[in-house]
Amino acid sequence: LNYLTPKTRHEILELLLNGLKRMEYRGYDSTGVAIDSPLNKDIVMVKRVGKVKVLEDAVEEHFSGKEYDDPILTHVGIAHTRWATHGVPCEKNSHPQRSDEGNSFIVVHNGIVTNYKDIKTFLEKRGYVFESDTDTEVIAKLVHHLWKKHPGYSFRELVEQVIQQLEGAFSIAIKSKHFPGECVASRRSSPLLVGIKTKTRLSTDHIPILYGKDTDAAKTQEHRPHGQTRELPVLPRTESTSEFMPLEEKEVEYFFASDASAVIEHTNRVIYLEDDDVAAVRDGVLSIHRLKKCLDDPHAREITTLKMEIQQIMKGNYDYFMLKEIFEQPESVVNTMRGRMRFDSDTVVLGGIKDFIPEIKRCRRLMLIGCGTSYHSAVATRQLLEELTELPVMVELASDFLDRNTPIFRDDVCFFISQSGETADSLMALRYCKQRGALIVGITNTVGSSICRESHCGVHINAGPEIGVASTKAYTSQFISLVMFALVMSEDRLSLQQRRLEIIRALSKLPDQIRDVLRLDNQVQELAKDLFQHKSLLIMGRGYNFATCLEGALKVKELTYMHSEGIMAGELKHGPLALIDDRMPVMMIVLRDPVYIKCMNALQQVTSRKGCPIIICEEGDEETKSFSSRSLEIPRTVDCLQGILTVIPMQLLSYHIAVLRGCDVDCPRNLAKSVTVE
Ligand code: G6P
Repeated sequence: LNYLTPKTRHEILELLLNGLKRMEYRGYDSTGVAIDSPLNKDIVMVKRVGKVKVLEDAVEEHFSGKEYDDPILTHVGIAHTRWATHGVPCEKNSHPQRSDEGNSFIVVHNGIVTNYKDIKTFLEKRGYVFESDTDTEVIAKLVHHLWKKHPGYSFRELVEQVIQQLEGAFSIAIKSKHFPGECVASRRSSPLLVGIKTKTRLSTDHIPILYGKDTDAAKTQEHRPHGQTRELPVLPRTESTSEFMPLEEKEVEYFFASDASAVIEHTNRVIYLEDDDVAAVRDGVLSIHRLKKCLDDPHAREITTLKMEIQQIMKGNYDYFMLKEIFEQPESVVNTMRGRMRFDSDTVVLGGIKDFIPEIKRCRRLMLIGCGTSYHSAVATRQLLEELTELPVMVELASDFLDRNTPIFRDDVCFFISQSGETADSLMALRYCKQRGALIVGITNTVGSSICRESHCGVHINAGPEIGVASTKAYTSQFISLVMFALVMSEDRLSLQQRRLEIIRALSKLPDQIRDVLRLDNQVQELAKDLFQHKSLLIMGRGYNFATCLEGALKVKELTYMHSEGIMAGELKHGPLALIDDRMPVMMIVLRDPVYIKCMNALQQVTSRKGCPIIICEEGDEETKSFSSRSLEIPRTVDCLQGILTVIPMQLLSYHIAVLRGCDVDCPRNLAKSVTVE
């Protein structure tokens, strides 16, 4: 929303499209943009299937006239890049979704409205004809319905009424031709922030929250019968309708966005909205409203200053973000350890959880919960955590954990590991555990994210923004964060001091060893040439390296669309061995650690079935190497950190195979970086 300096519509479109490009990693199957028409109060919308580039070309063609060059001061535009949940990617299912042919109300939405069928039936009975297969369309049409019914309501009030009817997850931004120059946005379980750009310093650090007075409104919603078509209850209007001027900047530009990368090139001042906040901008004034105030609710939302730099979300000289992020790992692991690992005194301090350590030490068990790559970091560090904490450690996929209604107790400590801090499955699991009184520890890469805000304490992994959809540097930083936690937990255990020292020393050498592994890139590229035309790749290992097998296979699947499977070498003889012949590509991780002999058994089981594995072994280990004509040698480190050095060749391999197969490395088909729906 621009109230800063006059801008042409072309400039506004460019700003929106650039924002979309920065957010593209969150979803990229279809896109859309809407701005005000220069001729009348109508809204012009352009939508396309495919990536933002396709929309950009369409926009250029559509808005080519001179009238789009006239500078205007007040303007609201909205845009969206989609990862389909309801309805296939096609123009009619792209966002913005609209209320009617006249584009009275248009909405962009992330998340899933789970009761959309009920609302749809309700609206269809009142004459609304739906044009898309999305859940989102009900939002636009419901605002329209209420607007017709309550002509005196402000835009913000209408949206406030609408969100009371929605179940599920959403972050929405709505624009209306009946309320020009205004935009209303809200969220529940999906992230949303407001960026604020001003010419001069902001006059405040906080924005007061305007609470509704009538708590019956909330009660009406809580007791609403589930899944029934009925006349919508009209909630009492709240006191906050009176016009406050909470953030009154004369010249200002506001941005509503799902994450900071979309706004960082314009401003580093943001407000993270909370569930059920309704943020409205009208005449250049931002206000934040909530329907009811609970006892501990704050009076204001803080304006925070982001530390992110624009360079961090640019590709630099790399062809792909993923490649840049793989090669950033010598530095990103240092950033994870910075200020925490004190190598001169062999001590570890985790500021974000230090006050909770006594409580954690008294716990019944540790639960590590995450999805995808983040889950693998839990698998990778479980053994060390068991060893150094001497506590039972459970590792859980968030979705399965919830499906099972896993019993959780007050004296459990639950770790939620998430790069984005927004993954819906993990967030739901967090809330489940929190409700049951467990201590919640967040391990995230995104300051201000939902998981980060809803945890009692935690560790920021500080890997820097990760844009490539396939996670790389976040994994190694999560890994190290959990290792540091294990070290903190064992600080006062005399019998473990030798082991701790060994790990601390190894951590100090790790950045240089990662550099050494990255030098294998050309060798890995050659291996990729051997493998890229195959249909499948099996990756085997055990002990500390089993997580690398799972993570390596996930990388291969995500990026190359080849089948790949991480196999626990101990399980080989119980089934997977049947897959082995002289054509099946196999990688085996065989390092000189306590499971070396067992890994060698597996290796021999494979070679004696004419299998020809590629071996990842330790530098100079001629004996192991002699079992195959193809190998990769990695530097020696302590057993529990090997997983960091063995995963990097797998990251590089999946990257090179993907390039050779002509796949879009940063935007693999059907995937999205942060999955904010369950
Ligand atoms: C998505 C991504 C994965 C990621 C997973 C968990 O599926 O495509 O790369 O590992 O989400 O994401 P999180 O942000 O919670 O670590």
